[in-house]
Amino acid sequence: MNGPVPVEVLKQHLIDPEICIRCNTCEETCPVDAITHDENNYVVRADTCNGCMACISPCPTGAIDNWRDVLKVDAYAVDDQLTWDELPVQDDALAGQGTIGEAAPGVAGGASADVPEPVIAGSDFVRGSVVPPWSAAKPYVNLYNHKAPVQATVVGNYRLTDASTESDIHHIVLDFGKQPFPVLEGQSIGIIPPGTSSDGRAHHARQYSIASPRDGERPGYNNLALTVKRVTKDHQEQAVGGVCSNYLCDLKKGDVVNVMGPFGSTFLMPNHADSHLLMICTGTGAAPMRAMTEYRRRRRLKGATGKLMLFFGARTQGELPYFGPLLNLPKDFIDTNLAFSRTPGQAKRYVQDAMRERAADVAALLRHDHTYIYVCGLKGMEDGVLQVLQTIAGDAGLDWQALWQRMKTEGRLHLETY
Ligand code: A2P
Repeated sequence: MNGPVPVEVLKQHLIDPEICIRCNTCEETCPVDAITHDENNYVVRADTCNGCMACISPCPTGAIDNWRDVLKVDAYAVDDQLTWDELPVQDDALAGQGTIGEAAPGVAGGASADVPEPVIAGSDFVRGSVVPPWSAAKPYVNLYNHKAPVQATVVGNYRLTDASTESDIHHIVLDFGKQPFPVLEGQSIGIIPPGTSSDGRAHHARQYSIASPRDGERPGYNNLALTVKRVTKDHQEQAVGGVCSNYLCDLKKGDVVNVMGPFGSTFLMPNHADSHLLMICTGTGAAPMRAMTEYRRRRRLKGATGKLMLFFGARTQGELPYFGPLLNLPKDFIDTNLAFSRTPGQAKRYVQDAMRERAADVAALLRHDHTYIYVCGLKGMEDGVLQVLQTIAGDAGLDWQALWQRMKTEGRLHLETY
């Protein structure tokens, strides 16, 4: 006689389309390729996700940390999830009964409890830290969302890059007036562009790093700056009009912008005085480095110590945002190294090349337990920078694998590339 077939209830991993800012962090982090996306949503394949939780901590908004108990046979399909504007409600009859999916074949792990296991900060597939520096200030996150954004007023918008160059990068200052909007260096915000896309849906928010220190673009003011590049081409060099970047770059003083956030609780700077910052960036990836540098500059007068070393890459000098102000910073305050890839008549030079040239000084920083590394900018740079760090460490007699692991777990290696 056949017994009753057990009904399996799955704790299905879902992404909240209302909060998600489509930053791609989860898809990049997932070690089993369970996450995919289209132009509408980021979604999780129920038959692939093994509940390893690697994606949970890096997500800047928390949109990733959503679960529904469903009959396994009724698990929400990817095609359905891609059409969602909001998450489905939990069926009360199944609530609390689900277990997280089995590990996919060949993949270690697979949590099976109701309570998700915390991600292991030093796990192999996460290349950077998923914890902040121990001395970082506590950030506020998600104070405003797309349903209840905060309105900021544009108080400044000017082009940073040389008028003769193709790169149109803007410095845009937003003022929050009397509305609370506390931020830390390294955090980001979401901008909700007005209007709808061709399918009639409201545009999604886009994420931008904050370029100002915590006490304001203008010290003591409740404002912050963004560094925004006008998107005119996609990665395949095809002409596209970036919805949000064009909206932002065209803003006039007095315009009002809908803002979400703040986001981010790991890419934060240490607050202890003798901590060193090794900052590596390209293009608009300079924004968080500018915020951290300016905070240190303001604190320096109050006795902050610790070295600042910056590697900054751009196509040409005219396309490097904040070129003038950067060079005006005192040499004994920040060790600035620029790398230009398209200066006529000169060899292509990337930040990695500049780091190699300064290997002895980079190695000295790597040896120091209070060195914090920040990488922000083009995705392609991430591999190159990790490789050159490995070479520099190896040549200096350091065990890079052990050091890398330690830096990750100690919140000392922060990667934000796109
Ligand atoms: P390239 O001239 O090869 O594009 P962008 O202006 O597109 O934001 O790029 C900023 C800088 O980053 C440019 O100098 C660009 O050089 C450089 N870059 C491109 N790919 C890499 C990479 N894989 N590693 C480091 N820098 C890179």
